[in-house]
Amino acid sequence: MENKIQANGEAKLTIGDATYDLPIYKGEIGPDVLDIRKLYAQSDMFTFDPGFTSTASCESQITYIDGDKGVLLHRGYPIDQLAEESNFVELCYLLLKGELPTAGEYAEFKSRINQHTMVHDQLSNFFRGFRRDAHPMAIMVGVVGALSAFYHDSLDINDPKQREIASIRLIAKIPTIAAMAYKYSIGQPFVSPRNDLDYSANFLRMCFAVPAEDYVVNPVMARAMDRIFMLHADHEQNASTSTVRLAGSSGANPFACIAAGIACLWGPAHGGANEAALNMLNEIGSVDNIPEFVEGVKSKKYRLMGFGHRVYKNYDPRAKVMQKTCHEVLNEVGSGEDKILQVAMELEKVALNDPYFVERKLYPNIDFYSGITLKAMGFPTEMFTVLFALARTVGWIAQWDEMTTDPSQKIGRPRQIYTGHGQRDYVSLSERKTGKALTNA
Ligand code: CMC
Repeated sequence: MENKIQANGEAKLTIGDATYDLPIYKGEIGPDVLDIRKLYAQSDMFTFDPGFTSTASCESQITYIDGDKGVLLHRGYPIDQLAEESNFVELCYLLLKGELPTAGEYAEFKSRINQHTMVHDQLSNFFRGFRRDAHPMAIMVGVVGALSAFYHDSLDINDPKQREIASIRLIAKIPTIAAMAYKYSIGQPFVSPRNDLDYSANFLRMCFAVPAEDYVVNPVMARAMDRIFMLHADHEQNASTSTVRLAGSSGANPFACIAAGIACLWGPAHGGANEAALNMLNEIGSVDNIPEFVEGVKSKKYRLMGFGHRVYKNYDPRAKVMQKTCHEVLNEVGSGEDKILQVAMELEKVALNDPYFVERKLYPNIDFYSGITLKAMGFPTEMFTVLFALARTVGWIAQWDEMTTDPSQKIGRPRQIYTGHGQRDYVSLSERKTGKALTNA
């Protein structure tokens, strides 16, 4: 990556009698940043920012979010235009390479992905080591990490060709591995990929086909799956992406880094929210119960799951596309009058007009509608985060690749403010009187 940040003046920081000049940089769009890299060396002070709410950890040219305006751009293109007019494989090319492909480039990229959809036969043995009731995300973390042991020819991260082949392998194999995790959990045989099918249709077939009968992919479901993958493909420096970058900053191999990203995504505050939103809608059960539920939210008894976002303080642009996809899927499966969808639509209307939510800038996020949609498509809730991981793999690998080629990249090493004991002398076992160990240490 070629660094493009530009100087945009200087700020002065005064601490006691000393004044420090902090360079200000501007990007293409978005807020300026203060460069504090030399602050510790000059002032002997760290900055304190748990959760990195005010810290840009890197320069990036992949994805831009304006949370106040509800804007999400990939390489400059708005997500709604991409979701409407492009497809997931083309988006993968755009995220990885920076530009939309020509027809020839697209055909070549698609065919390269197709050539890598199968997994090594030995990899199947990893699945059989898991209990049948293992969470599919546990399987994903283990099996994707295990890919490092299979592809010794793509572990030199300083070789662009090896990085590229690792990226293609990950994008191509992750649907096969995700479908295998699902099949294993329900005790059905694995279904091999079929390269005459498009990416998302192939994935649906690997999940839902059985050897005993033919499976014909419904084009409405394939399009919905493809949109869901597109909506989740990248979201700049979120927790799992930052995890991938941090793991990769030590020079770790790409398969291990993506496994670290999957582990981070598994948490309910990140990838698990659509499951929570679906559970909430089921618990509300009927439109009549909404007023009481909303009162409970306002008195802080519950959270309105699928609402609010750390970055978006406006309608999540992905939620609009997700809502449309949700309607298409429910109409197709014949539950257009679905009670849960009615609850969702009414709840959204009520919340968008209630001062509690308006004042706090709480708008629906992508998870508000994705759980209902995935359930209607036939996926069990444990698979929701797996589908998110499948889609986000391209974002993770694009960000990892960008980091690897960034001349300003360093190993990630945050600092801390230490509030533990000061130095003290070791006391021998026979002289220790009371046990004072921290219970949560
Ligand atoms: N329901 C009710 N009140 C809420 C909600 C909510 N979903 N979200 C925030 N608030 C209130 C919160 O109580 C606080 O009110 P007050 O000022 O009276 O104390 C105010 O809004 C600010 O909340 P916050 O917790 O400081 O906001 P945050 O930016 O730290 O939280 C969030 C962001 C996503 C964790 C939160 O909105 C939330 O818990 N939402 C529900 C879970 C959810 O849908 N998560 C999916 C996020 S999108 C997935 C992705 O992109 O990866």
